[in-house]
Amino acid sequence: MHENHALRGQITVPGDKSISHRAVMLGSISEGTTVAKGFLLSDDCLSTIRCFRDMGVDIKTDGNTVTIQGVGLKGLVKPANELYTGNSGTTTRIISGILAGQDFDTVLNGDESIQKRPMKRVMEPLSQMGADIVSVRDNGCAPLSIKGCSLHGIDYHMKVASAQVKSAILLAGLYAKGDTTVTEDVVSRNHTELMLKGFGADIETDGTSVILHPGKKLKGREITVPGDISSAAYFIGAALITPGSDIIIKNVGINPTRDGIIRTFLSMGADIALINETEQAGERVADIRVRYSKLSGTVIEGSIIPALIDEIPLIAVAASLSEGRTIIKDAAELRVKESDRIELVSEGLKSMGADIEPTDDGFIINGVERLHGADIRTQKDHRIAMSFSVAAIASDGPVVIDDTECVNISYPGFFCDLKKLQSK
Ligand code: S3P
Repeated sequence: MHENHALRGQITVPGDKSISHRAVMLGSISEGTTVAKGFLLSDDCLSTIRCFRDMGVDIKTDGNTVTIQGVGLKGLVKPANELYTGNSGTTTRIISGILAGQDFDTVLNGDESIQKRPMKRVMEPLSQMGADIVSVRDNGCAPLSIKGCSLHGIDYHMKVASAQVKSAILLAGLYAKGDTTVTEDVVSRNHTELMLKGFGADIETDGTSVILHPGKKLKGREITVPGDISSAAYFIGAALITPGSDIIIKNVGINPTRDGIIRTFLSMGADIALINETEQAGERVADIRVRYSKLSGTVIEGSIIPALIDEIPLIAVAASLSEGRTIIKDAAELRVKESDRIELVSEGLKSMGADIEPTDDGFIINGVERLHGADIRTQKDHRIAMSFSVAAIASDGPVVIDDTECVNISYPGFFCDLKKLQSK
């Protein structure tokens, strides 16, 4: 580790990916205009924009402000071709809830990775609501054929912790007869619930249940999208493991369903402070100050997992350089993300000299003093590429990442921003 790699100064990370997707979806099916400021114009969110444009919605981008002319719940039109969701699991799963309630048929498809990701988890509850949704190749994956149907509300207990599935059910619930209730064991990210409320839907929460009463029209509005904590995570991790670092990341969303990385790093001994805490469009936001810290191992399991699921590859990097043992479990979902993240994180970190063993649902990691250069396989997974870019800072030899373009999925300016923090 070299002192001259220290991260210093202030940075603003791009808008939250989950909230940006939802702004386009809810804005499109609302009445009136929605203006989303601080929108994340990354490949994934552009996939959502493309799908709604293909269904007749006028969506304009100007810098990172996106203006959506809502067509109302029933105003979408049948797309001329299949809807293409690219690499975006969020688009694919959540949009299927909206498509299930339309008067027209659609085929939903995405890239090679999307065509391998499990879709039964949305097909099953939507079918229970009366939807006609099938996997074209009968393998439980996209392409999906969705025939417009009349839906009825259900009372659904979630089998996997998935905000995408919960959101698909709630959005289908807007088109259903009767109430829709979704109950989770642990509340996954709740941006859909918060935004639906902001757009005027009749929705309430009761413990870990969300109840949607259909019948209310959604009204377009102005939204300011907070910075994405999942993008801030890379700089938080990089600053923590690099001696001399002291950074502030401005205006980051710290919704309690997403802040697991902060809670975990604090429990590992991190010097992290939240400043200027405030609320924006129902979402909690703060500036995050992070200073280099000596971290110690921890156990990450159970109810915190959904609140840091996307950050686990980065946490594994930091844990590899911590003192003692870190155990991560209950995270089998990592195997069905954009890649099998348990496999790629273990393989990559091992090749860099880390002491890491994969398990069925996580990792066992014993901290080491330093990491070495290695060739890293990403399978075009953005979070793998960014996590290993952070690992590279703590490495004493060159790290060659086989694909860096994939960072555009969630964070187009990632390498520029990392350089900026390292040049102060
Ligand atoms: C997301 C939910 C999570 C997360 C994904 C974004 C969302 O996926 O991993 O990056 O915006 O709803 P799951 O719903 O599969 O847990």
